[in-house]
Amino acid sequence: MKVAIASDHGGNELRRELIELLKEMNIDYTDLGPDHDESVDYPDYARPVAEGVANGTYDRGILVCGTGIGMSIAANKVEGIRCALVHDVYTAHATREHNNSNIIAMGGRVIGGALGKEIAKTWLEAEFEGGRHERRIDKITAIEQGK
Ligand code: RB5
Repeated sequence: MKVAIASDHGGNELRRELIELLKEMNIDYTDLGPDHDESVDYPDYARPVAEGVANGTYDRGILVCGTGIGMSIAANKVEGIRCALVHDVYTAHATREHNNSNIIAMGGRVIGGALGKEIAKTWLEAEFEGGRHERRIDKITAIEQGK
């Protein structure tokens, strides 16, 4: 599995902790920055992760900003992206099982590193259940494509 990860200044600290998790899990990851702690605009970091997941360069993406909200809104503007804003472990596996989410967003000002890592690990290990959930995702795709 190839994972892209990025943040803004509000998510740098949590992103660094999540990178440690990806290393511990032996997951092939690409860190798309930023490589400094200055203020940046979260859409500039959400976009390459979302476009990379949408075009198949990466299988999954992880985005972190202060709340996770800006990142999730921006990522979900890219066709084919189902980005879930997640701050608890139940939602982390449910959004893989039911929504087949391909990006997760978290808020570095909302949760600490230990919970963030547990959420990311749960999400990375969970599988899409398909079945009735596939039909619902097809309906989301239809909305996205104006059908
Ligand atoms: C940056 O101050 C903050 O707005 C950003 O990290 C994020 O929380 C936006 O949704």
